[in-house]
Amino acid sequence: MLIKRARADDIRSSEITSETVFHQRRKMIKAMGLGAVALGTPVIGGATSGERQFYSTQAPLSGPVWLQNKLKTVTPGQYSTQESATPFEYVSTYNNFYEFGTGKTDPADNSRNFVTDPWKVEVAGEAELTGTYNLEDIVKPHMLEERVYRLRCVEAWSMVVPWVGFPLADLLKRFEPNSNAKYVRFETLHDPEQMPAQGSRFAAIDYPYIEGLRIDEAMNELAFLAVGVYGNAMPNQNGAPIRLVVPWKYGFKSIKSIVKIEFTKRRPKTTWEISNSREYGFYANVNPAVHHPRWRQDTERRLPQTLFSRSRIATQPFNGYGEQVASMYEGMDLSRYYLSLIHI
Ligand code: MTE
Repeated sequence: MLIKRARADDIRSSEITSETVFHQRRKMIKAMGLGAVALGTPVIGGATSGERQFYSTQAPLSGPVWLQNKLKTVTPGQYSTQESATPFEYVSTYNNFYEFGTGKTDPADNSRNFVTDPWKVEVAGEAELTGTYNLEDIVKPHMLEERVYRLRCVEAWSMVVPWVGFPLADLLKRFEPNSNAKYVRFETLHDPEQMPAQGSRFAAIDYPYIEGLRIDEAMNELAFLAVGVYGNAMPNQNGAPIRLVVPWKYGFKSIKSIVKIEFTKRRPKTTWEISNSREYGFYANVNPAVHHPRWRQDTERRLPQTLFSRSRIATQPFNGYGEQVASMYEGMDLSRYYLSLIHI
């Protein structure tokens, strides 16, 4: 990312305050005997699966009515980490969404009026079924589940986010991709009236934002389409109404506010490699052994970070998801693919 190096002292005092509030709230919850219920909130619909309760929100359910109804049926999904989730206050105020500005709080500040309903998603390219669909038709056939994933940004900060959504593979299969479908290309909304940076002459990157996955990566069980966090609809700044989450790759692969999904024969050119192919590659798997020119990748700042805790932890290959994904890259030199633009 081209923004200045994010340092500990870049965390704004308002964020530190909200962290204090978070801990006060936790203490209160403990005192009230509510134990480990996340963020002091009830579990959705009172549902639990096995031992694990899952994350919910204190706010009333938001989003269109059909989504609110579906959100009441969320169940805990597979592959969730047991690490503590980053408080919602951080997840929703420390963001990268360049369409709304390059500062970490710009997306929350500038996306308040972003209209995400109605929303359409076009499915195109190498598949039997293609067309433009209302978001409801995209989401409705799928059971919503919660996946608590680590999110590792190439800027060397990380969070743990309880996403709500469904496996990308389940959606892709519905459109019956054909044998030419070697890659999947994703596109973010282009609407300069709503997304101020898209209309700026000084835009940091080209728009619309484009991302892509190889078809086997897209079909991997971890690749996830999220429509919410913390049991509620996706906040605008996090990529409402629907975004990708690929937890073994650097965060920039997890494209927000998707309006188009296309099956392609050729590897799509993606936003950050178009912007700077020496720094950003297509695969961009989290790799502590290959440093970005501006950010070392062997450690990361796990948010929330406070004045008293720097929370620096070791970065894991594939962000700790190697068991599920490493076999897809056997025989590939990932350092090379990470750093350079290579067509295969
Ligand atoms: N998607 C779009 N359309 N525009 C962006 O600027 N930023 C990416 C990714 N998806 C981005 C995007 C980057 S760099 C990161 S780290 C993650 O979103 C951040 O997601 P979060 O703000 O929900 O933490």
